[in-house]
Amino acid sequence: MAETISVMISEENVDKRIQELGEQISKDYAGQEVHLICVLKGGSFFMCELAKRITVPVSLDFMQVSSYGTETKSSGVVKIVKDLDEPIRDKNVIVVEDVVDSGRTLSYLLDMLQERQPKSMRLCTLLDKPERRVVDVHVDYTGFEIPDEFVVGYGLDYAQKYRNLPYIGIVHLSE
Ligand code: IMP
Ligand code: MG
Repeated sequence: MAETISVMISEENVDKRIQELGEQISKDYAGQEVHLICVLKGGSFFMCELAKRITVPVSLDFMQVSSYGTETKSSGVVKIVKDLDEPIRDKNVIVVEDVVDSGRTLSYLLDMLQERQPKSMRLCTLLDKPERRVVDVHVDYTGFEIPDEFVVGYGLDYAQKYRNLPYIGIVHLSE
């Protein structure tokens, strides 16, 4: 199957919004430190750009869970592929995600991280697809709310491709 990509959110608008989120987080955590947890692989581009725009002290860690194969629908199965390197106890954790879709992945992940007793924990996602929600998840920082479309770019993939696009694009499938 071939696919074509059209622009949904331009590079300029994504960058502008990440700058705003960085400023908001810096303000909210003034005088404190934040520990960003990137959900691999999709959250990586967003986390790097966001971290560069946060002005309070930042530390980083990475975690990988799998809920998607190469399909465009969630399987509902969540598995930890890579756990964090550092404990998060007493840290101000911000989980950084590419997109909250059904909410299954995040719901599982946030419950699991909460048991490790961070000082605080918030969720920051570049994209949110509220129409698709199956499990309730509280999002603290959202880049963009988008309609129910399968998107790529800025870390998001279709069959592991297009993560490197500097904008958010819609995937159109054709025979
Ligand atoms: P959820 O568990 O259904 O919320 O799915 C979360 C994960 O599915 C995200 O972190 C992405 O990796 C993947 N995903 C959901 N929607 C999209 C999309 O539109 N493009 C690419 N990946 C997506
Ligand atoms: Mg993800």
